[in-house]
Amino acid sequence: MNDPIAVRPLPKSVIVTGAAGFIGSHLTERLLVEGVRVVAIDNFDPYYPRSRKEANLASALRHPNLTFHELDIRDKDALRQAFQSSGSETVFHLAARPGVRSSVNDVDDYASLNFTGTVNVFEAMRECRMTQFVFGASSSVYGDSPVPFREDAAADRPLQPYAATKRACEMLAYTYSHLFGINATCTRFFTAYGPRLRPDLALHKFANLIWTEQELTIFGDGSAQRDFTYISDIVDGLIASIQRPFAYEIINLGNSNTITVKAMIDALEMRLGKTAKRVYLPPNPSDMDVTYADISKAKRLLGYQPKVPFEEGVRRFVEWFKEVNAPV
Ligand SMILES: NC(=O)c1ccc[n+]([C@@H]2O[C@H](COP(=O)([O-])OP(=O)(O)OC[C@H]3O[C@@H](n4cnc5c(N)ncnc54)[C@H](O)[C@@H]3O)[C@@H](O)[C@H]2O)c1
Repeated sequence: MNDPIAVRPLPKSVIVTGAAGFIGSHLTERLLVEGVRVVAIDNFDPYYPRSRKEANLASALRHPNLTFHELDIRDKDALRQAFQSSGSETVFHLAARPGVRSSVNDVDDYASLNFTGTVNVFEAMRECRMTQFVFGASSSVYGDSPVPFREDAAADRPLQPYAATKRACEMLAYTYSHLFGINATCTRFFTAYGPRLRPDLALHKFANLIWTEQELTIFGDGSAQRDFTYISDIVDGLIASIQRPFAYEIINLGNSNTITVKAMIDALEMRLGKTAKRVYLPPNPSDMDVTYADISKAKRLLGYQPKVPFEEGVRRFVEWFKEVNAPV
């Protein structure tokens, strides 16, 4: 990566919330490799099976520089105690209930977990005088904004409750930066994918359906586009964010290269060696037509440069998928 802005050494220790998740577990492993002590927090939220999350974190758990707290970020006291004992000043906050579509019928849970949970994280940081916050924000906040999505778009018309909670958390981050001097960088992820991908995400769900020769449902005509961003590129952007603290910034972490749903299914068919049984339904109103990141700000502020093209990323994802689904 280019480094246009002074780069600080990595801190000795950090907190990662949501560490057993897809992105959190990759980030945790990278931090451990870089010699950073990680205080990992997760409650194994039942959104998808605990066994998958335990598998995500299994190798990190064996590392001597990892401390794991199984706790719910809605439990203020437990959260404060974990923060107090961490000796860290930096928090990567990735714990959340993900899933844009499922948020439509479960607004209470998304509001309490994503928003109130984030309030608790900030309050614990404030009490423990921590100084740096990096947030797992989302491209979904752009809704129907014109593409490519730029960080200066108003992003004030989210299409799903999930996106509304993520946007509210970004605003809260500004408040804590302004009032309490907590440096806050909100990194908006664009369709992260790779090994350990969440089972509810289209690439993984479709891989399962193709592999088991079941019908897969496509909402719309397959022309919807997503800016797939490989997990190691997302992790590069997160690491760069703690090395360049800003008082408050929102930064897109995308690939800036869109792939249609149809092309995604074609790529899976090719790698899995099977044909998809495609069933088309009318478009879903909670789906965005396109996500497409302008990443010029990430390049300028973070020296960010995505490296893994979609074809290679799908190859690595399918390699992992076949391993996990191999007959025993
Ligand atoms: N995957 C993507 O493409 C994407 C895109 C945009 C934003 N994000 C955001 O990035 C973050 C990580 O996403 P992911 O795809 O790795 O999801 P994930 O579900 O795999 O990881 C989230 C983790 O948070 C944990 N968690 C949930 N509620 C918790 C609670 N109350 N207390 C403690 N831990 C809790 C879960 O158990 C899970 O392990 C989330 O905040 C998500 O909203 C992800």
